[in-house]
Amino acid sequence: MKVLVTGGLGFIGSHTVVALQNDGFEVVIIDNLSNSSEDVLDGIAKITGEKPLFENIDLRDKSSVISFFKRHPDIEGVIHFAAYKAVGESVTNPLAYYENNIGTLVYLLQELQDKKRTNFIFSSSCTVYGQADEMPITENAPVKPAESPYGNTKQVGEEIIKDTCKVKEGLNAISLRYFNPMGAHPSAEIGELPIGVPQNLVPFITQTGVGLRESLSVFGHDYPTEDGTCIRDYIHVMDLAKAHVMALKRLLSGENNKNYEVYNLGTGKGSSVLEVIQSYERVSGKKLDYKMVDRRLGDVITAYASTNKANKVLGWQAETTLDQAMKSAWDWECKIRNYQEVHV
Ligand code: WQD
Repeated sequence: MKVLVTGGLGFIGSHTVVALQNDGFEVVIIDNLSNSSEDVLDGIAKITGEKPLFENIDLRDKSSVISFFKRHPDIEGVIHFAAYKAVGESVTNPLAYYENNIGTLVYLLQELQDKKRTNFIFSSSCTVYGQADEMPITENAPVKPAESPYGNTKQVGEEIIKDTCKVKEGLNAISLRYFNPMGAHPSAEIGELPIGVPQNLVPFITQTGVGLRESLSVFGHDYPTEDGTCIRDYIHVMDLAKAHVMALKRLLSGENNKNYEVYNLGTGKGSSVLEVIQSYERVSGKKLDYKMVDRRLGDVITAYASTNKANKVLGWQAETTLDQAMKSAWDWECKIRNYQEVHV
């Protein structure tokens, strides 16, 4: 069965391609390489033994989207990752985010909406909840005004899909709201490849560990939490990838009782910044150089998922512990580092 993965050379996309191939799916990747590299195809092939089909297409080019689906009429499912995702950059360049994250979604749905049956998985985010009032966060928690254009593109994206599903009964869709993805495939053949200075905590920690960064700045230590630092739900990228396969199979089998569903994807456990640092120190055996600095604008204090719905309805459960996830992140960073050292 052929599945399209847009953004399939990116961090979560590439790991999902591995999970799809491991489950016997034929995968076609669309990626415009704006935040990824074609070398990722080799990493995927080393893990699964099969190099996925790849087309370098920019989904902002509507005619390319139309011709793609003419060439691939046998696509049974679409997992849509392709989007810009840097919160800070979205504030300084909102139109690029609305054009890329919303425009491409509209073009994809326009090609899919009149098929007899379409199975569409949308990459969403816990960002839609803002600072939720209650922990753990359930799918019924209210969506709050987005703190950034990036977060708004996830909220608006979900609304566009929901509204289209209402009038196009052949369109079956699931939005997956990720908490904090981290880590890398245990083989260290693929992983997170942040371009430039990482905004996210875990790659900044591992880059500090290998000496690429001088020290980690911990953004705020006076929050109303046990150790004063923010709490998040860090989920291993392969657990996340497997959830995408299960969500797609739910749609393919017609088990979905509504043609639009939403699931939180997290471990259900919150970890503070200091606890993540301690995890790094345990798995690497190294002390991390870090300093406490002022809070980062826009950070929520606490966010971790209620996993009941994903466990009970999708039949999915995260299995990787924080230390195992951190070990995979560290192994990946060390491997990249050696490569760069050899080639420098
Ligand atoms: C986690 C914690 C920071 C960096 C993420 C993604 C965002 C979106 C939503 C997908 C916070 C602290 C971080 C650093 C730090 N992803 N931190 N020093 O903010 O939850 O947002 O999820 O939709 O793109 O970034 O994750 O890793 O940026 O921060 O102290 O150098 O680590 O303050 O408390 P966040 P994060």
